[in-house]
Amino acid sequence: MADEKQPDQMCRHIAVIMDGNGRWAKQRGKIRSFGHKEGLKATKRLLHYASERGLKYLTLYAFSTENWKRAEEEVSYLMNLIHLHLRKEMKFYKKNHIRLRFIGDLSRLKPSLQEEMRSVERDTASYDGLTVQLAINYGGRDELRRAVQKLIDSGKQEITEADIEAELDTAGIPDPDLIIRTAGEQRLSNFLMWQSAYSEFWYTPKLWPDFGSEDFDEAVAAFFRRDRRYGGIK
Ligand code: FPP
Repeated sequence: MADEKQPDQMCRHIAVIMDGNGRWAKQRGKIRSFGHKEGLKATKRLLHYASERGLKYLTLYAFSTENWKRAEEEVSYLMNLIHLHLRKEMKFYKKNHIRLRFIGDLSRLKPSLQEEMRSVERDTASYDGLTVQLAINYGGRDELRRAVQKLIDSGKQEITEADIEAELDTAGIPDPDLIIRTAGEQRLSNFLMWQSAYSEFWYTPKLWPDFGSEDFDEAVAAFFRRDRRYGGIK
């Protein structure tokens, strides 16, 4: 997006906290899982129009390290929804040249789901359109803890910011320029804590299943009105 601009004025990477599926279902007298099913439809629409608009990176918070506290039934519904989506939608990713990668501690997930994830990552690795990072069993603190553990294990004595970055799940991906959160909440909730140091934030009261391209465009337009100074003076 806006490739003719300087790197610090571009919107290359958008991260989204897709919140409000449960409330959306409740408003309709339905169970929470129904909200997640509709939420996934909104996510698929987002992949479509974000690709069309030429976005380079999109990171989606699909399941946090804290989400295990939810009822067993909801957790397994979400895991199955993700698994089924990955199994069914390869054609969609191929057609849209979308590369998928996963961030989070995947070792706690079912082996069959881990296998599906590895296979999708392999099969989409060469696509050069939008890169989508799906955050599953992801927590910013846990990601940092794992990175520090790897640095300790490597025996390094002096650590630079670049050393830490290289051990994060997001290594090699630029930091998000813009973070969008739906459903009226205005907090980071353990998402991309390191990477969001200079991200712009945009919130909307809309619940995730109702989020559409007009909201996305409004968020991007707001981003371009911001003055990013990175602590300096312009
Ligand atoms: C937050 O709403 C939403 C989630 C915890 C799950 C989001 C996951 C999806 C939309 C599916 C994505 C899957 C793929 C494969 C892209 P909430 O349940 O916290 O809503 P509430 O705050 O209203 O209760």
